[in-house]
Amino acid sequence: MDELIAKYYFEPCGVSATKATRQIMAESSIGTWTDIQTLTAKMRKHLGPRTVQYSKKTKTLQIAYPLNLFELGNVPQLLSALAGNIFGMKIINNLRLVDIKLPKNYVKSFRGPRFGFKGVRKILGIKKRPLLGTIIKPKVGLRPKEFAAVAYEAYSGGLDFVKDDENLTSLKFCKFEDRVVKTLETVDRIKEEQGRTVLYAANVTAPSRLMIKRADFVRAHGGKCIMLDILTAGFSALQELRAQNYKMVIHAHRAGHAAVTRSRRHGISMYMIAKLARLIGADQLHIGTAVGKMEGSKQDVMLIKDVIQRQHVAAGVYLSQDWYGLRPVFAVASGGLYPSLVPEVVKIMGNDIVIQAGGGVHGHPDGTGAGARAMRQALDATLSGTPLNKYARTHNELKEALKKWR
Ligand code: 3PG
Ligand code: 3PG
Ligand code: MG
Repeated sequence: MDELIAKYYFEPCGVSATKATRQIMAESSIGTWTDIQTLTAKMRKHLGPRTVQYSKKTKTLQIAYPLNLFELGNVPQLLSALAGNIFGMKIINNLRLVDIKLPKNYVKSFRGPRFGFKGVRKILGIKKRPLLGTIIKPKVGLRPKEFAAVAYEAYSGGLDFVKDDENLTSLKFCKFEDRVVKTLETVDRIKEEQGRTVLYAANVTAPSRLMIKRADFVRAHGGKCIMLDILTAGFSALQELRAQNYKMVIHAHRAGHAAVTRSRRHGISMYMIAKLARLIGADQLHIGTAVGKMEGSKQDVMLIKDVIQRQHVAAGVYLSQDWYGLRPVFAVASGGLYPSLVPEVVKIMGNDIVIQAGGGVHGHPDGTGAGARAMRQALDATLSGTPLNKYARTHNELKEALKKWR
């Protein structure tokens, strides 16, 4: 029988671990707080979950659920069961959904990424090096024309990727459609002037119908990338976007994830969220930087990178997982990065990442173009094994950046 295994961190409250486990299993599957006349022995036999592992020492609990409890291809339903009512029960002090092992039939009911990191590399014609990108800053405030001008500076300085910030959608002074048209014009201009293909991720985060309308708009204007805030818009939105099967890269931003992932003892792990994003089909996903402004240890970030990029994840800290051919995702390192941090980011995370800097580009004393060149110089130095200080002797933009941000 196919099963799905969920791993929790778990602290019972006022009852024994056995009793709390029984109640968690019931509430997340076929039962409730009391025995009920409508639940037959047959149902219990075919749909009842079982405990696979419990450790008082590590406070971990693994529960196996029959696959028939779940609707294939429906992530919200999965979470309503395994990350639903149980988080609010009085019989627990803390509960954290750490990981889920998904059986083949379940994995196969999703498409996974259409492009993944190999597909994105192909679009850009960049074989091995990390990609470099920027988030246009200020987060909101620029008019479409100004936004596109800043994007042009960034691309011209050598960046591959420009994106909207998570809270930039369609505002009074910066309508989505105007911004997209003008920014895609700069994408074409870069192609003409430099022969380089670059990407612009337009943030389509909005109520679902509008989201699709905007994504259609980007496609109609020749865009190759759309961005979604997958936590605030929700997994349903990501599923909906993926279901369109656009020939456009889906860039997944995780703004808000920390509301559910930050506690080590309660909520849902970022690892779990990353797993679902790959399952549904994000091509690029923000996973942290280990060194920038956002919380997340090196070990955490690397585990997340593993689960979105490996075909098979061996059981280490979490559960093993075979991805049955789902494409690997481009990991995005973003949040508080600047040129001096590039060597460390590459050392920790390797080449299959998108390195993004907002403040670290637009905060350069000589402006965006210089900031982009400084990031590029930092990457070139890193890839050639040259210390940044040495490289900066002959590269002025990097030199200025190193002076500002040590
Ligand atoms: C709910 O979703 O609110 C619960 O299913 C309530 O069920 P109960 O009355 O059996 O606790
Ligand atoms: C992001 O959304 O990842 C941030 O906008 C990064 O911006 P920063 O480089 O200025 O921290
Ligand atoms: Mg941002």
